[in-house]
Amino acid sequence: MTQDELKQAVARAAIEYVVEGGIVGVGTGSTANFFIDELGKIKHRIKGAVASSEATAARLKSHGIEVLDLNQVDSMPVYIDGADEITPHGAMIKGGGAALTREKIVASVADKFICIADSSKLVEVLGNFSLPVEVIPMAQAVVAHKLAALGGAPRLRMKDGKPLITENGCLIIDVVGMKIANPSELEAKINNIVGVVTVGLFARQGANVCLLGTAEGVKTLKF
Ligand code: 5RP
Repeated sequence: MTQDELKQAVARAAIEYVVEGGIVGVGTGSTANFFIDELGKIKHRIKGAVASSEATAARLKSHGIEVLDLNQVDSMPVYIDGADEITPHGAMIKGGGAALTREKIVASVADKFICIADSSKLVEVLGNFSLPVEVIPMAQAVVAHKLAALGGAPRLRMKDGKPLITENGCLIIDVVGMKIANPSELEAKINNIVGVVTVGLFARQGANVCLLGTAEGVKTLKF
């Protein structure tokens, strides 16, 4: 099976977690896109969706799914999204698509985080994938120094030869070379640096379920 076929399989499996008549929180990225395409097929069974990025909002709308403003939402049974890495305990690195802050906000409202990922994303220790940190532009240098002091090599994320600007008007620093033995502790430490908007570690509120696409079929990990 190709990686896309594995992503498609987990996206299909995630539909079982969608609650009848409820609002669905939707993540960002290629796996989330497959999920949106599946969600489009059952759109009459949901109230609407909350998007974690403009790209996700546009794809939801293209399927005729109503996109709701998070400020008008009281409850959300599930948030469904991909990950860059996930541990056997449900801690994740996210933010490869630069949407980490909105993803964390939407996920924080949901009762359950359902992570959908192909098996290449499962790791024993987080950190092979560089850790994204969204920062306020004026704090870029000071935050980079503090991240370096924690043991990583900070790199400003670029796009088309210029610093990438997030949908929140901020920058992304990718921290390379960290072996993250204690994701919850590091998440709190980085979130505490003044100038940091969000760190792409989802450990304090990690996944509740991971649907993992493998050659033998979709495996369900519960945390
Ligand atoms: C975007 C994310 C994505 O969930 C993560 O990058 C995984 O993406 P993909 O499904 O394309 O592998 O965190 O900010």
